[in-house]
Amino acid sequence: MYETNAVHLKAPNCWINDPNGFIYYQGMYHLFYQCFPYSAQWGRMHWGHAVSRDLVHWEHKEIALYPSKTDDRSGCFSGSAVEHHGKMYLFYTGVNYTVEDPENINHCLHDQFQAAQLMITSKDGQHFDNIGAKRTIIPPVTDKNIGSQTHTRDPKVWRGKDAWYMVLGSSVEKKSRLLFYKSDDLEHWTYVNYVEKAGYGWMWECPDYFETDSSQVLIFSPMEFLKDGKAYDSVSLCMLIDFEEKNCTMHLPDQYQFIDYGLDLYAPQSTTDAEGRRMLVAWARMPESIDGMWNGMFCIPRIVEVKNGHVYFRPHPNIKKLFTKEITSPAEAGEGGYQISLDIHNGACINIGGYVISYKNNKIYTDRSEVFAGHNEIRCQFETPKIQEGNHLDIYVDQNLIEIYINDGEYVLSNIVYGLSGEITAENYALFTIAD
Ligand code: FRU
Repeated sequence: MYETNAVHLKAPNCWINDPNGFIYYQGMYHLFYQCFPYSAQWGRMHWGHAVSRDLVHWEHKEIALYPSKTDDRSGCFSGSAVEHHGKMYLFYTGVNYTVEDPENINHCLHDQFQAAQLMITSKDGQHFDNIGAKRTIIPPVTDKNIGSQTHTRDPKVWRGKDAWYMVLGSSVEKKSRLLFYKSDDLEHWTYVNYVEKAGYGWMWECPDYFETDSSQVLIFSPMEFLKDGKAYDSVSLCMLIDFEEKNCTMHLPDQYQFIDYGLDLYAPQSTTDAEGRRMLVAWARMPESIDGMWNGMFCIPRIVEVKNGHVYFRPHPNIKKLFTKEITSPAEAGEGGYQISLDIHNGACINIGGYVISYKNNKIYTDRSEVFAGHNEIRCQFETPKIQEGNHLDIYVDQNLIEIYINDGEYVLSNIVYGLSGEITAENYALFTIAD
């Protein structure tokens, strides 16, 4: 299997979407992901698998999960990982199409499928016995008052004070909700409660709950949230919430932040790194494959910190410390792309190979119209809320993904781009690439 150090982990000659089962386990980072191994389009989902010691050099491994049971015969959808007694436990949604599309059996017709929650264990995080080690732990939900038999998915499991907990995204009468389950042994799960909140789309995909020193944080990706007529009407949000384990009650406030103001990042998943810091990665959705060969990649792992009610997403230090070799032009950059650092002044505008960043009224704006040709159905202009903590930008530029970290993660804005030129127009900037 091949290795890469491209900073953004990319699809190995196929389609990928959500990060799954992200975990630091036995000295290695494991990043599984939604994958259709046969082509650069979404289809019957498998779990791809990549491992790394440092979040920089990744080795792509064999497919970890593939359809093998009636409950996951049509796909192994998203899920998460925990370690218990030295074993790796993966939790995911198994999908069974009740009516296949006869013209493309990797899709179903008109949402006719069932979703169950499954678990598989592995002794070493390298071998996954898809025949012998999978179990259905939550069959399709049949009580319509609790959740949907179809749209209930993406188990995120964590260890609470006295038990294991699981959150799932679901939907009842086109209203999104989260379902909470509890377990003592990771195998037997009991439904406890749900929470819902109007105004945030009809289905919440990939919920993730975690605690920091001071806060409880919920992340989710609501479908049909923005409703501005543009494609990708799904974005990732985070909220500071109140969660009480005993009865799994969750209070959701009215305030939220986007994980990323470029609105291209979806389905983020968090875990803790080797030092115990909370971090996440997210799928950068691409409207077009590259040369018909591959589609999809992950953003730079980001450390998540909460201070004074604000959630910061900072580039992981392992990535930050790589960009030390100063260069004078993008042409000198290596496989990992380059980083531009600068202080931007109100009224200023910079152009990175056709991608335009400007700073007005204390907000950062981006415009990718020139490097996103032919995609009028997708947004091309973006903006952050008003920034408060300075005017510093660290911009990581890869051929197809630009990530702008504002004031070390006060806000982040990342965009997919195509066909960047090698020219930069900006004032007083420094350019770095990865040292050999
Ligand atoms: C989010 C999502 C998940 C689902 C998976 C299927 O992008 O739709 O809800 O599990 O992708 O690939």
